[in-house]
Amino acid sequence: MADYDVIVIGAGPGGYVCAIRCAQLGLKTACVEGRETLGGTCLNIGCIPSKALLHASHEVHEMHENFAKMGIKAGEPEIDWPQMKAYKDDVIKSNTSGIEFLFKKNKIDWLKGWGSVPAAGQVKVGDTTYSAKTIIIASGSVPASLPGVEIDEKTVVTSTGALELETLPKKMVVIGAGVIGLEMGSVYSRLGAEVTVVEYLDAITPGADAEVARQFQKLLSKQGFNFVLGAAVQGTELTEGGAKVTYKLKKDDSEHSIEADVVLVATGRKPFTDGLGLAELGVEMTKRGQIATDAHWQTSVPGVYAIGDAIEGPMLAHKAEDEGMAVAEVVAGKHGHVNYDVIPGVIYTWPEVASVGKTEEALKAEGKAYKVGKFSFMGNGRSKAVFASDGFVKMLVDKETDRILGCHIIGPSAGELIHEICVGMEFGAAAQDIALTCHAHPTFSEAVREAALACGDGPIHS
Ligand code: NAI
Repeated sequence: MADYDVIVIGAGPGGYVCAIRCAQLGLKTACVEGRETLGGTCLNIGCIPSKALLHASHEVHEMHENFAKMGIKAGEPEIDWPQMKAYKDDVIKSNTSGIEFLFKKNKIDWLKGWGSVPAAGQVKVGDTTYSAKTIIIASGSVPASLPGVEIDEKTVVTSTGALELETLPKKMVVIGAGVIGLEMGSVYSRLGAEVTVVEYLDAITPGADAEVARQFQKLLSKQGFNFVLGAAVQGTELTEGGAKVTYKLKKDDSEHSIEADVVLVATGRKPFTDGLGLAELGVEMTKRGQIATDAHWQTSVPGVYAIGDAIEGPMLAHKAEDEGMAVAEVVAGKHGHVNYDVIPGVIYTWPEVASVGKTEEALKAEGKAYKVGKFSFMGNGRSKAVFASDGFVKMLVDKETDRILGCHIIGPSAGELIHEICVGMEFGAAAQDIALTCHAHPTFSEAVREAALACGDGPIHS
């Protein structure tokens, strides 16, 4: 008899959610994790700590920008950086210990150490080999490196080092205008740094709806961000007080450099599969170094499954969680399913940026007949009351059927608002379904309804 029905390797959002669902479905489950705490990148050095720092730095921004307007005299905010980091660490601790509690509650064994798979049905952790009917790899991802750039996590940092800077930088260069660059750039910009983002493409946030990306860049520039677009970073070099970044402008091949106290490298992440022994096991990989899986997350080796950042698809915690739940259902003999067409993406800056479904550019490329319904937060009463009227909701619907094909929001609580659309899309909703649904007043959500109205006879408040 096997030691376990299932051993999950990795306790990030993919792995720990998968382990919990396996246990809930009656499977004897263990989860291997080599970090000192559960929760993976997301809880320890990613989503959660960055949200704590985004929250704290946003409050600083509010003090600077809006307190006086509301008649609150609080003086010049003083930043106690060690305390801000301690607050962030407390947030991490309460989240990671929460997962430990859930493991105990669901009788999941935490196998402490780094696991490998010497053969199908076997997982080795340290000197012990455990047997399991099913193995699920949820080993996540690590920051991708860039040629000519040496990371020391002090001066030239990835997102990991960016959460632990010893002192607040006065000047920061961010390489890559993706999610990490703009979120962490926002933190330090609000805490007083002059932030310059150097991006290879001619627009920020690759893959985003172009209209949203343009508005987002405009708003970040207003907040003090500098952007150098169409620039390929060639390398970094340590200097006396910081580092120098060299880049080439694509338009004329001219070479330039810029100096900063801290350089954040945020040019993407890559699957983390080191030490798992996958090559020896004969697990097929994609050309991009991801673990190849079939439609049910099984690898080329029967009984070995993989989910999350280590396989294809967007590197998002919630995508990994959904796969974790679905693969648990499959392993338990049920029907697990992930609808990859309805996976929201959120950037937690101010304003927030959120999207789901197709962008306008994708619909054009497909030759699909569509309609656009747009509504600006300028026409939303609640937004005006809280200094948050920058941005808009843009809904894209099928021209014939009115069915929602995508939605892109830049504005207050965009990351929450988007879920109304996600639920709608899962139910095959038309814009009219949203438009005919009563929305409480005064809420930001009314802007979503107005965008839906804009797909039909028109919004009321614009
Ligand atoms: P990203 O893929 O979002 O953006 C990387 C950017 O770097 C791209 O715009 C790319 O064109 C640029 N770039 C690449 N090489 C360059 C070069 N040599 N010079 C200049 N620019 C260059 O990657 P990022 O921001 O590092 O995030 C990694 C992953 O983590 C993403 O999949 C992201 O979705 C995920 N993530 C998600 C978060 C969220 O959902 N809020 C938060 C943080 C990360």
